[in-house]
Amino acid sequence: MLFDAAKKGGVGLQRVVDSESLLPITQKESKELDVLLQRSVSFSRSLCLTYYFERLGTDVINSYKAAKVCGDKMLSSFELGASGVPTPKTFVAFTPESARLAGKRLGFPLVMKPVMGSWARMVHKINDEDALDAALESREEMGNPWQKIYYLQEHIDKPGRDIRAFVVGEEVVAAIYRNSTEKSGWITNTGRGGTASKCEVTPELREICLKAVKIVDEGIYGVDLMESGNGLVVHEINHTTEFRNSIAPTGVDIAGKMIGYVIARAKK
Ligand SMILES: Nc1ncnc2c1ncn2[C@@H]1O[C@H](COP(=O)(O)OP(=O)(O)O)[C@@H](O)[C@H]1O
Ligand SMILES: [Mg+2]
Repeated sequence: MLFDAAKKGGVGLQRVVDSESLLPITQKESKELDVLLQRSVSFSRSLCLTYYFERLGTDVINSYKAAKVCGDKMLSSFELGASGVPTPKTFVAFTPESARLAGKRLGFPLVMKPVMGSWARMVHKINDEDALDAALESREEMGNPWQKIYYLQEHIDKPGRDIRAFVVGEEVVAAIYRNSTEKSGWITNTGRGGTASKCEVTPELREICLKAVKIVDEGIYGVDLMESGNGLVVHEINHTTEFRNSIAPTGVDIAGKMIGYVIARAKK
């Protein structure tokens, strides 16, 4: 879709495939790219590539700083909270003992997530202390030290759906409700069986999204929000947002909007 949109916009788009890349790190070999639109689904590879090209002088969408903040839920929650964007109350702990204290502070149910991850992998709703103990024990047995960083969050009693809004530059171009289904349970990610339907971009939604993306450099983002009893809360910002399932329900040419923005940045 992005290639088609580029063709329509009359610009050449060159694919940089992460699995085929060999980056000369210490040797100077110049790469001539005007703008790099980072689409890698691998967070680790995209961080390396974004750093690399940014340091060579390429304008990367989104920036390394943005990827760092968006890709780490602790950093995102911190920045959202610090900017006064409504966001669920969150604690981070490094041991099961401290994580249990967070359980006491938040109450149950709560939500525990890996600080780095997507597609709702290992995002768990935890209903009581026993369930928390079981989840913590499983995490302790895992080899990966990042899985032992416990990110615990207040559970938002959302109405069987949440919201994904697409921000391109300074515009909120479209939004969908992600509805949970029998298959997806309380999870709404469309990659996990949630279904998409159109969500009106109200002034309230626009305002909170534009305030949220101020925590990162201007670019192209998918903002995740939930409808809480006290209004909208932002729980994360995606820096390589997927959009395929959102075109039909919204009728918005999201790929075209993205490429239009990329072309505008190339002309700057
Ligand atoms: N605090 C919360 N309360 C209720 N549901 C949540 C909460 N946090 C996340 N969810 C749900 O979990 C799913 C994935 O959460 P998210 O934080 O966006 O992780 P990922 O980065 O894996 O997509 C979404 O369906 C979202 O609605
Ligand atoms: Mg998400």
